[in-house]
Amino acid sequence: MKKIQIINGPNLNLLGRREPGVYGSRSFEEYLSELRAQYPEVQLDYFQSNHEGDLIDCIHSCGFEADGIILNAGAYTHTSVALHDALRAVEAPAVEVHISNVHTREEFRHHSLISAACRGVICGFGLDSYRLAVEALISL
Ligand code: DQA
Repeated sequence: MKKIQIINGPNLNLLGRREPGVYGSRSFEEYLSELRAQYPEVQLDYFQSNHEGDLIDCIHSCGFEADGIILNAGAYTHTSVALHDALRAVEAPAVEVHISNVHTREEFRHHSLISAACRGVICGFGLDSYRLAVEALISL
């Protein structure tokens, strides 16, 4: 069974309530049960934290045993050299995911410090961005 670790960064615990015009009105937990039902052959583990170091610890602990990592690092995408280094330090291929199309938003969201440490990037498809990332990882 393939094992994929989904990691959500800061403020993504508020999905469903946070800026619904940008991020939609569904909680991640609700979406995740649907996603798990769509991929019964894949073990989809989930971790969320608002703290950069916890995200790094999660990458370290899953990064040598999971078949892939789906990372929505939230705002740390645009600031974190440490997350970039953590992704480079482990073996599992990572897909950077964003719910919104960051390139149509404020300029500070146009640059990602983690893309270069990822296998690919998916953004702008709402929560479906995560399913597209699962598809990408299972077809590697
Ligand atoms: C986000 C985009 C980031 O710029 C933002 O800081 C987030 C969410 C997205 O999923 O669209 O927290 O990663």
